[in-house]
Amino acid sequence: MRPQLATKVTQADRGAIGGAVACLARGGLVAFPTETVYGLGADATNGEAIARLYAAKGRPSFNPLIAHVADIVEAEQCAVFDASAKQLAAAFWPGPLTLVLPKRPGCAVAELATAGLDTIALRVPDHHVAQDILEAFGKPIVAPSANRSGHISPTTAGHVLADLGGCIDLIVNGGPTSVGVESTIIACLGGRVVMLRPGGVARQAIERMLGRALDPDTEGVAAESPESTAPVAPGMLSSHYAPRTPVRLSATCIHRSEALLAFGETLVPGAEEAAAVLNLSERGDVVEAAANLFAHLRALDRSGARCIAVMPVPNEGLGEAINDRLRRAAVEP
Ligand code: TXA
Ligand code: MG
Repeated sequence: MRPQLATKVTQADRGAIGGAVACLARGGLVAFPTETVYGLGADATNGEAIARLYAAKGRPSFNPLIAHVADIVEAEQCAVFDASAKQLAAAFWPGPLTLVLPKRPGCAVAELATAGLDTIALRVPDHHVAQDILEAFGKPIVAPSANRSGHISPTTAGHVLADLGGCIDLIVNGGPTSVGVESTIIACLGGRVVMLRPGGVARQAIERMLGRALDPDTEGVAAESPESTAPVAPGMLSSHYAPRTPVRLSATCIHRSEALLAFGETLVPGAEEAAAVLNLSERGDVVEAAANLFAHLRALDRSGARCIAVMPVPNEGLGEAINDRLRRAAVEP
């Protein structure tokens, strides 16, 4: 979409919440912080606003959106919760967990937002700005990550402005987001509990809470394999979260003119020769690494390096989500 709006940026205070809600009610597009990444919000019941949202993001319209709601009561008006879904919502909401559930007949969320599916993705975010907007608006708000489609998700208001300035109405600046990777998506459908996307709640935490392992993804709904090019399920595009600079994974050394995305105290040999170095977590903490991931990728993308070499990150806890995003960043669009 050609930039043509005067995008306003406001600090997150009481007045900003009122302004954001008025803008959403007019069918406007408002970026706001959640605990994971900044979302680009639109009235979930307004098909025209959602169409504008897809256009602003340049998003393929077969990719359905997450409806954000204020609490479980509002969520239950939109979807049918089985026992596992109830357990998960009680344990992790508000928080970085999205549940994909059967859409309830009469659910007010527009068909366009769910891309014509009979399921709906729901989340109660754990951020005071998102919560205040949702409570004041009183209706579900769809909010994909507030980046141009396929680009790196935004963890600051500045990232949003760089990607979507001129294409959206308002950005509410609430500072950097704390979790840094998107929500974990879990489908509770037909009695099975399947992870569709690793994210801000670790698999282990979910399995501990349920008292059992998650079901294997036999339908292949989450087959977001970076090698496959065709989306096998809505929204599961293999190249995603991608910087413009090529990304080289599992780096054990540095080649000429490469930037280094490091992890841990001990850097790879040749690190001092790197065009730029940013460390996800010097103390080797995957939670800190998740919070830094997208901002560091953006910064190294701007460094002018020929390639971004990435040191290995352990696959435990939020490491699963970090490695998923890094694999996607390494796929050529
Ligand atoms: O942390 C997050 O989840 C952020 C913040 C803003 O809340 N949002 C976010 O939204 O990451 P988005 O649109 O970038 O990613 C949503 C993912 C997409 O991959 C989409 O295909 C999937 O959720 N999704 C949405 N509805 C679905 C459904 N009914 N079935 C399967 N996948 C669904
Ligand atoms: Mg996204």
